Amino acid sequence: MCGIVAYVGPKDAAPILLEGLQRLEYRGYDSAGVVVSNKGLKMRKVKGRVADLAAVMPARFKGGLGIGHTRWATHGAPSDVNAHPHLSADERVAVVHNGIIENADQLRAKLEAEGVVFLSETDTEVLSHLIARTVKEADSLEEAVRAALKLVVGTYGIAVLDAERPGEVVVARNGSPIVLGIGEKEMFAASDVAALVRYTRQVVHLEDGELAVLKADGFTTFASDARETAKEPLTVDWDAGHYDTGGYEHYLLKEISEQPDTVARTLRGRLDDRFHIAHLGGLNMDARETRSFRRVKIIGCGSAYYSGQIGAQLIEELARIPADAEPASEFRYRGPVVEADTLYVAISQSGETYDTLAAVQELKRKGGRVLGIVNTVGSAIARECDGGVYLHAGPEVSVASTKAFTSTAVAFALLALHLGRVRDLSPAEGRRICDGLRRLPEQIKEILVLEPEIRELAHKYAGAPSMMFVGRVRGYPVAREGAQKLKEISYVHAEAYPASELKHGPLALIGPEMPTVAIVPDDELLDKNLTTLGEIRARGGRVLMVGHRVADPKLADDCIVVPKNETELDPILLSIPLQLFAYHAAVALERDVDKPRNLAKSVTVE
Ligand code: AGP
Repeated sequence: MCGIVAYVGPKDAAPILLEGLQRLEYRGYDSAGVVVSNKGLKMRKVKGRVADLAAVMPARFKGGLGIGHTRWATHGAPSDVNAHPHLSADERVAVVHNGIIENADQLRAKLEAEGVVFLSETDTEVLSHLIARTVKEADSLEEAVRAALKLVVGTYGIAVLDAERPGEVVVARNGSPIVLGIGEKEMFAASDVAALVRYTRQVVHLEDGELAVLKADGFTTFASDARETAKEPLTVDWDAGHYDTGGYEHYLLKEISEQPDTVARTLRGRLDDRFHIAHLGGLNMDARETRSFRRVKIIGCGSAYYSGQIGAQLIEELARIPADAEPASEFRYRGPVVEADTLYVAISQSGETYDTLAAVQELKRKGGRVLGIVNTVGSAIARECDGGVYLHAGPEVSVASTKAFTSTAVAFALLALHLGRVRDLSPAEGRRICDGLRRLPEQIKEILVLEPEIRELAHKYAGAPSMMFVGRVRGYPVAREGAQKLKEISYVHAEAYPASELKHGPLALIGPEMPTVAIVPDDELLDKNLTTLGEIRARGGRVLMVGHRVADPKLADDCIVVPKNETELDPILLSIPLQLFAYHAAVALERDVDKPRNLAKSVTVE
């Protein structure tokens, strides 16, 4: 959600900032801007994409120090004026900001009473004026930034320039990520490693409350009380190639197509042939502790939450521990009862989703034991948890989650196997699940081969104003995720219901204009699902069945047949054709597939 890039070094900052912003554009993309320091501050900012900014950049925009931003609007509509950076009235201080300043209105009123004239409607502009107020008398820029941040309530990741101190950038974090990149006689900072990996793989994550001063020859970090802190650089194993489309038309198609490989990476080194267990060293729990939990509570947002629903089902079936999933955004606000014998599991691809992070912090504050299922190594949620499972799925760039969703479900299968095998799951059952997990990458390849057929179906159904997605028990989270994918990238309205609930209300919606995608696995509920299809067809509803056998034409107009795995693992495979379906529906409707309107990749605000 919004992207920040900063550079200090011997090179010209502007091309580095623009390149970094392009890499971050998936985080927010309604406006973009840069400022460089060279005998005063020079700024360009526009409503629109980074390409629009690049188009208005003058050829001579020199300066070895700069900050840039790509925006996802919170305060004030997307416009040239509301785009970041924001300057102080004397144009001495420039600020870019991610997050939300909650007391911006009060601060603004106070500053206006002092005679400050605001140009934008943003909450961020208060920061540039507040810093400018003290910067002249302060001994250092960080002192002025610290003084301003003391007045602020809310979340921020910021980068600040002072025209009078042309050798340094100050960055600070509270709730919105900031990562430093260490180069050869140059320093970088960004809200996401994506902007850094082209230049360096040595990074340092700031913690909440920390501030850092970057100079070309190094950096210093400080805690909120101005004490210097020691930081160990991490080496990231994602490189610039991970952020290319790799010849695909869209990141989304690339990420869907990578899944045989990404699932294999999630499984790599974690299945044990001797005891038919999963090795998950990152859980940091011995067998006795693992046995002690009586409940599992899973939290996450959006698609992460739906993959958590698949996870809860896997844990109940394989480990026989009561488990359920809940949106992290709701969980944190309802004063949850936190119990010592409950294992909490937080899911996040980015590891930065604010609602999930805040829920984890609430759990930790109440003494809960929290594991993270996270894709981004070293991210805030990963650092906050007591242990967890990394997905190793590589960076996910398209706003719609696909490979991370699938790898999360696979990670839950591993966790369920692990919890089951320290309880009552027999070695034979453990072996059945291990064998099933091993078959997944090849079976995903078989599903990807169906792409031309799925494309045709997507074109056939894309014209519908609204679609219903139904599934029962294991199929229900698959239906929810299918509906989520379709609406977020194609903007076609989609509802997901448990198939069993249809007759309790939503059946009234069914007719020729509202087709249904029905998830119908070959499991013990097959007959019940087929009865539901009959009910839909009897009301003139069109049906696209996704399951394991060719549909009876009396019950479905079309079908997508996927390979069968073990019943508990089938939801993982059933989700994949729905990703392709949504993708091709979005392409048919000429949507901006990777950057759907109104959305951003990492939601780092409330
Ligand atoms: C998925 O397609 C969505 N863009 C969204 O629901 C996402 O899964 C959610 O915001 C959680 O993100 P996270 O996994 O990075 O925490």
